[in-house]
Amino acid sequence: MYNSLKYILLLFLASLSFVSCNQKQGDKIKVGFSQAMTTDDWRKQMNSAIKIEASLRPEVELKISDANNNITKQIEDIEKFITDKVDVIIVSPIQSKPLTAVVEKSIKAGIPVLVVDRKIEGENYTAYLGADNIEIGRIAARYIISHSKGSGKIIEITGASGSSPAYERSLGFEQIINENKRYKVENTVHGDWEGESVKAPLKAILLQNPDVEYIFAHNDRMALSAWETARTLGLEKKIKFIGVDGLNTLNGGIELVKAEVLDGTILYPTGGNEALKLALKIYNKEAIAKNNILNTIVIDKNNAEIIENQMDKVDQQQAVIESQQGAIKVQEKEYASQNNLVRLLSFFLVIILSLTIYSIYSTISISRKKKQLERINQTVIDQNNEIQEMAQIAERSNTAKLNFFTGLSHEFKTPITLIMSYVESLIENEKIKGTTLIDEVKLIHKNSNRLLRLINQLLDFRKIEEQKFTLRASNTKIYDFTNEVMTNFKGEAARRNIDFQLTCKNKNLELFIDRGLMDKVYFNLLSNAFKFTPDNGKITISIVENQDNTVKISFKDSGIGIPENELANVFNPFFRASNNNKNSSGIGLHLSKEFVLLHQGTIELKSKQGSEFVITLLKGNSHLQPSEMINKAENINKTPNLISDTLDIETDLNETNVISESEKHTLLVIEDNIDLVTFLKAKLSGEYVVHTSDGSDAVEKAMEIVPDIIICDINLVDKDGYEISKELKKDLRSSHIPIIILTAQSDKESTLKGLQSGVDQYLTKPFSLSILKQSISGLLFNREKLRYYYTNNIYRVEPESKFGNQEQSFITKMNDIITTNVEDPKFSVEDLADKLGVSRVQLYRKVKAIIGINISDHINNVKLEKAAELLKSNNMNISEIAYSLGFSSPNYFSTAFKNKFGISPKEYKSSL
Ligand code: FRU
Repeated sequence: MYNSLKYILLLFLASLSFVSCNQKQGDKIKVGFSQAMTTDDWRKQMNSAIKIEASLRPEVELKISDANNNITKQIEDIEKFITDKVDVIIVSPIQSKPLTAVVEKSIKAGIPVLVVDRKIEGENYTAYLGADNIEIGRIAARYIISHSKGSGKIIEITGASGSSPAYERSLGFEQIINENKRYKVENTVHGDWEGESVKAPLKAILLQNPDVEYIFAHNDRMALSAWETARTLGLEKKIKFIGVDGLNTLNGGIELVKAEVLDGTILYPTGGNEALKLALKIYNKEAIAKNNILNTIVIDKNNAEIIENQMDKVDQQQAVIESQQGAIKVQEKEYASQNNLVRLLSFFLVIILSLTIYSIYSTISISRKKKQLERINQTVIDQNNEIQEMAQIAERSNTAKLNFFTGLSHEFKTPITLIMSYVESLIENEKIKGTTLIDEVKLIHKNSNRLLRLINQLLDFRKIEEQKFTLRASNTKIYDFTNEVMTNFKGEAARRNIDFQLTCKNKNLELFIDRGLMDKVYFNLLSNAFKFTPDNGKITISIVENQDNTVKISFKDSGIGIPENELANVFNPFFRASNNNKNSSGIGLHLSKEFVLLHQGTIELKSKQGSEFVITLLKGNSHLQPSEMINKAENINKTPNLISDTLDIETDLNETNVISESEKHTLLVIEDNIDLVTFLKAKLSGEYVVHTSDGSDAVEKAMEIVPDIIICDINLVDKDGYEISKELKKDLRSSHIPIIILTAQSDKESTLKGLQSGVDQYLTKPFSLSILKQSISGLLFNREKLRYYYTNNIYRVEPESKFGNQEQSFITKMNDIITTNVEDPKFSVEDLADKLGVSRVQLYRKVKAIIGINISDHINNVKLEKAAELLKSNNMNISEIAYSLGFSSPNYFSTAFKNKFGISPKEYKSSL
């Protein structure tokens, strides 16, 4: 592109120079004319003649310099011509002597000089052109002699001294006059070629000696002035006047002759046109004479008219020529402007053509480049698609791997739960308590705990990566909280003689923290501190309130510390300090930082002597979203975690309540982990009748047994726990059974999914047996409360009531059927079960589960409620009511009525 522009520019410059080249004049013959002055008509005519001649020759470039009768200026003008290197110089010198040197200089410089009219001294010029002024003087004298009739007294008026015509005219005149004794130049007036120079001296002469026959002036201007002076003295008629020049102009010699002012004038031709012709000859190096003499003639009253006519004709012709010249000039101008226009158009045409060619070229090259780019683009798109596909494959494989490891981690939790539950039982076992075995059991417990923590860290890492953590912060007394966590490490501190301190000035200081997450942060920082602090070392936690509404919690140890250049990396996942040769997963500190960031806090590490981790948290809760906060109570119940459970919670594990089999509630455990099933069976059989299913026949078994409560795992072979729960909760026969989901999946989505499928409780592994037991009895108690409500509100259970669930609609439907058939003595439990679409046994169990009595008793109750209603209406007697409601005898009816309401039907009726 840049190159193309360069070419266009070059083209443009070329076109421009083409135009300007054509405009440039060809080499011309430069002629410089140094004119003495231009004040009189003779000089004007001379200039005009030379100009006309030059204008007829286009090859000539004429430059006229007017010296204004100033000799210095004339010398300068000529020198300028020499510097400008004109081809020929024409000079009409003001005076002879002063101009001689500069003419010689020009000759020396190789520029030829043509001298006109007046001469210079010596012969050092190229040529001379002019009339013979000696001869003019002679002609004037001869004319006087031939025409004189009087005294023969003459006054001569000369031109300026120093100019050759004045000298030569006098010379010629006096030669002839002095030949004849009768004539005498009585007086000479020294003029300067102009009229004014004559008046005063002539007047003085004439006043002294008026007897003058002729006055010969060296030019017509001075002759006229002499005539005017004579006239002032009344002598103009007496004296005859002769002049020189013979111009055919106003007040020129010819007119003065015709007007009889002058007796005669000697023609002195300007030689303007001849001068230019001669100059060109000199330029062309043609052979010419050194002295070129112009013809002259006497003009008097005899030929003035004729000569005037001839001159007029010449003038007319000159005027024609001049006007033609003018017309030619106009045409030349037009031609020049048209020529310029044509050149300009040609120039633009060239530009347009160039641009057109360029644009065609550009279009082609752009389309080529476009195609090329399209090809590249397509390749990029293809590559991009490929990369995306590969990325997707990689992501899928990565997700699959991560899911596998996450699943595996979840799977680890169940056996650990079992191990820890058994170990906890062992710790509490009286037979072991006093023995040396207890230490080993505690060691197993401690390591299981550690393993569990590692698995939890792995799961947390995945959760943080997926940004699935939501803060559940509550107002917490940080001193108490810190102390509680420290309890877990006090044993080790004592054993290794580590000075383990907490400093905090304000023990009531409260902070909004997620206790579950902050517990993990504390645990991690303290585990590290204990790991790297040698025996007899020191670990200090200090809580300091700052002015800026923040609290700093620092964990300082006297361990090996971390090399300075690695400080910035400690919170990166999988980081392991170069001086750390202990086992470390490298995710603990990373998780700690992420958990602190969730609190809008910061965590930093200072390591000079030992390590110091400083957590900075904001006071108050304005930095937290409402969704990130929970109330205190919720938080306390939040961590039903085996790790944090103290062993004394488990004491009820060993409680052996002796309950008879028939009183026991039925429990169905849906779980495919045989160990866990065995464990649960062992731990729960004392209080419950435990049925089990590995998940393959879960729904069928639940329908068959209709247990009082179900404990169900999530990850099962056929259907997962959610599906099983959903099916059971949908089915009328099992919808009333409380379900506890027991799973290793502790994330929010799983919990939500569980709750959506209708489960009543959600416990995550590892679970605390005590909490499981508590949950079972809690749910059964709630069921009991509900049952009490149903029993006591059996007829008030309406579709829109707060129990708007499956059970409520079941009861409503069942009550409707019983009420409709209450007066049919043949209506049986089987008929009711049929109408409700359940088996007799299922009906029996469901009703028993919901309202706590058997179905026949419930039907009887409905009948008795109806009986009470009929008694109120007073339309039927007691026997009629008993039979209408299907009671076998009025007596049986009375007994049943009294059992239910405490009074006999008779008493009831009379009480109304
Ligand atoms: C013009 C003029 C003429 C005269 C000539 C002599 O300037 O004065 O009248 O003939 O010069 O050089």
